[in-house]
Amino acid sequence: MSTPTAFWLAGRPATGEDTFDVVNPYDGSVVASVGVPTPAQVEEAVAAAKSVEAEFAATPAHVRAAALDHVSKRLAERTEEIARLITAENGKPVKWARGEVGRAVSVFRWAAEEARRFNSGEAQRLDTDAGGTGRLALTRRFPRGSVLGIAPFNFPLNLVAHKVAPAIAVGTPIILKPAPATPLSALLLGEILAETELPAGSWSVLTVPNDRMPALVRDERLPVISFTGSDRVGYQIMDSVPRKHTTLELGGNAAAVVLADWSSEEDLEWAANRIATFSNYQGGQSCISVQRVVADASVYDRLVEKVVAKVRAQVTGDPADDATDVGPLVDEKAAERVESWVEDALGKGAKLLTGGRRDGAAYEPTVLADLPADAIIATEEVFGPVLSLHKVDGADEAFAVVNDSRFGLQCGVFTHDLQTAFRAHRELEVGGVVIGEAPSYRADQMPYGGVKDSGVGREGVKYAMEDYTYERVLVLTGLAL
Ligand code: SIN
Repeated sequence: MSTPTAFWLAGRPATGEDTFDVVNPYDGSVVASVGVPTPAQVEEAVAAAKSVEAEFAATPAHVRAAALDHVSKRLAERTEEIARLITAENGKPVKWARGEVGRAVSVFRWAAEEARRFNSGEAQRLDTDAGGTGRLALTRRFPRGSVLGIAPFNFPLNLVAHKVAPAIAVGTPIILKPAPATPLSALLLGEILAETELPAGSWSVLTVPNDRMPALVRDERLPVISFTGSDRVGYQIMDSVPRKHTTLELGGNAAAVVLADWSSEEDLEWAANRIATFSNYQGGQSCISVQRVVADASVYDRLVEKVVAKVRAQVTGDPADDATDVGPLVDEKAAERVESWVEDALGKGAKLLTGGRRDGAAYEPTVLADLPADAIIATEEVFGPVLSLHKVDGADEAFAVVNDSRFGLQCGVFTHDLQTAFRAHRELEVGGVVIGEAPSYRADQMPYGGVKDSGVGREGVKYAMEDYTYERVLVLTGLAL
């Protein structure tokens, strides 16, 4: 047996007493064996984070920015190797994995830029009332304390980057816990972080098993929790530690709305392409993959014909192959769940337009019409390559269908009308509205997060930096203003 991949304890590699295997979802091969930190090692990492808080917060901006720039540069240099690793551990087609690395390059670059801009302070004169004569308030932000970052399997590098880079940018220590199925990209990121001059203790990547996480979640030395994953686990965490500052990036059942004015051949080609691509990218395992198409009756038939043809044209198979669009889901259990939800919908009267078959961990790109309201897929996040089609009459009904959901993450609206775009922005109960594009568009510097059961708080580098810190006012007196 080869040496297990190390985890990162206070900036240095370590192996525990135990290991677990990371399995390639496509062929079942063992990609690596990974060390599990002992409870004593976890304690050491948390104590190190706590003890370095003041030192890290006082680190000059140029030091933090240089470390972040270094990480960005090294990720770019190692793109192909990291993309192949993401594909091996996650099953994500390599072309999407390359895109993920590119996004992480940008997250660290943005974090370096934000670190230079951050905390220049805001001055406010207080002599607007007699009692404030000669007084000035200066507001700056300070870390809330060490962060516990809990990352999901679906973007094993970039959603880790979204937790780690903002922490470095504001100078707050982070303990990062990657998903058990896909820890390798985060551990490789650790290799690159270890090349920087960041203080020991300011970061750890700990492959703690899920069943040992409640103790870490409750640890008072980690007052900030940034979690991405399912709403069930997210709210369990929040409810277990109501006094902590918790950010939850949870699920969604994102809709693409196609309105009557989006009707030319070219319009419908574009919408169908984007819908077919983004309901299936990474096997639909993105919180903003297209799960629902809500189309005006005047364009519905033409759109559906194109969507179904384009979904059928998605290339499935080996994710390591450059031509593959859709690989396996993260494991066979996930594909079995998707299969059972599609069967539930069909059993209740949904119509299958294409797909609907499972092969091991792979599930065929699938389109359903006439989805009954009591089907599981009608209300839950499918997190698989399954799309449902809904015919509506006008924008009022379309927006009502979108809002008739317990989730609210992002929505795409295909319209040329500026008034409708603003109306969508005003009326849709989601964290982001994207016009002329699928809901799956995300630029990493944008605020990203949901309402309703889709979460609390925002990521997007600057927004996570705000989340990790709080405002503290300095009042200066006796000034000649
Ligand atoms: C997510 O699944 O929430 C992340 C989507 C993305 O970053 O593109």
